[in-house]
Amino acid sequence: MAKKALLSIDGQDPIELPILAGTEGPEVIDVSSLTGKGYFTFDPGFVSTASCESEITYIDGNAGILLHRGYPIDQLAEKASFLEVCYLLLHGELPNATQKAHFDRTITLHTMVHEQLRVFFNGFRRDAHPMAIMTGVVGALSAFYHDSLDINDARHREISAHRLIAKMPTLAAMSYKYSLGQPFMYPRNDLNYAENFLYMMFGNPAEDYVVNPVIARAMDRIFTLHADHEQNASTSTVRLAGSTGANPFACIASGIAALWGPSHGGANEAVLNMLDEIGDVSRVGEFVKKAKDKNDPFRLMGFGHRVYKNYDPRAKVMKETCDEVLAELGVGDDPQLKLAMELERIALEDEYFVEKKLYPNVDFYSGIILKAIGIPVNMFTVIFATGRTPGWIAHWNEMISGSYKIGRPRQLYLGKSARDIRPLAER
Ligand code: CMC
Repeated sequence: MAKKALLSIDGQDPIELPILAGTEGPEVIDVSSLTGKGYFTFDPGFVSTASCESEITYIDGNAGILLHRGYPIDQLAEKASFLEVCYLLLHGELPNATQKAHFDRTITLHTMVHEQLRVFFNGFRRDAHPMAIMTGVVGALSAFYHDSLDINDARHREISAHRLIAKMPTLAAMSYKYSLGQPFMYPRNDLNYAENFLYMMFGNPAEDYVVNPVIARAMDRIFTLHADHEQNASTSTVRLAGSTGANPFACIASGIAALWGPSHGGANEAVLNMLDEIGDVSRVGEFVKKAKDKNDPFRLMGFGHRVYKNYDPRAKVMKETCDEVLAELGVGDDPQLKLAMELERIALEDEYFVEKKLYPNVDFYSGIILKAIGIPVNMFTVIFATGRTPGWIAHWNEMISGSYKIGRPRQLYLGKSARDIRPLAER
């Protein structure tokens, strides 16, 4: 027999609410009929609310588990490339060799952007934050690719997905080159996804740039570890924007905007800014104390997570990659990196952090790796956005290809009750 919850309000006949079971995770009480009975539910921050059905990603925050289409993230990071993970998120299965070759080639053939987009960059100040540029230019793609904007056509949705995944690294590198005043680098079809990104970031037309394979592998892992994370703030933003029927480029631009905040994708940038502020290993104790002080808004950036109340499984892989990169580049004794490691050590032992289950998250280590690679701090969130693009687009596509309603939460209104306007002279 189907399970039900009974909601009893003030002794009235109980309201029956169906209980739904997923393939994994807690059961879900379906409250969608409550509005017909004159009630809304109240759940600020959506901490107890499942906003949709999804088959893409599963997280068990208490156990520290993250699965994409059933595959654990550590296996994917170890055994699959970022483009294989993109394929998996979009299609539900890992590609076979023929499908992989075809997908890799398709993405490669879409890496260039419309030449007119280069001019678009000139409208920005040279010191513009690259996330500001990305929000603008990704949204602007909808003005360039009219031939793939019919959201009800599965082939159009697929072409838009390929375009977005392929063009994000190109636009990301362009936003960096623009800030330096260096020429934009065209993508190279003989390089893989991560290599091409590094080439467009660090190459210049005046001399050859040889991509270091250890760094390219680390970059690919950083993209993979950010590829999707269930219904997080930016993905929910993409779904909400998509539920209005907005085009995919506009939806992804809204995701980029939501990702920018320091509580979400901006945390990797905030980690490095925090390390700068701490300045020296001798001040770690002082800052840990500030983070624990209820009257001080300071938080340790890169620690804690809404869902993980255990070690973030992405952080485990990221820490290994961090060790590999630091060894390859021989920068293990960099004072800021030493400071980061001391902060990690103290926080992992501190009673406050242990009790509240505040572990280092993915952004703590990704910030350190990116810094070691030579990526400027203000580009960190852009790299997160590049990695998250397949997740955003997979969720958007899942929603659009199924049945969906426009997203429209309600509220607990605490404002004035209805009243009449008094004439100006009497106010
Ligand atoms: N430093 C110090 N105290 C903290 C921290 C922190 N980083 N994070 C949470 N707390 C405390 C918080 O003060 C609260 O204490 P109390 O129960 O005494 O009021 C308790 O832990 C629970 O915190 P919360 O804010 O209710 O938890 P949340 O689930 O709403 O917030 C979070 C999650 C990620 C926003 C938060 O942990 C945070 O601000 N962390 C720092 C920013 C950061 O690293 N964000 C990246 C998240 S991972 C990347 C991504 O997926 O986007």
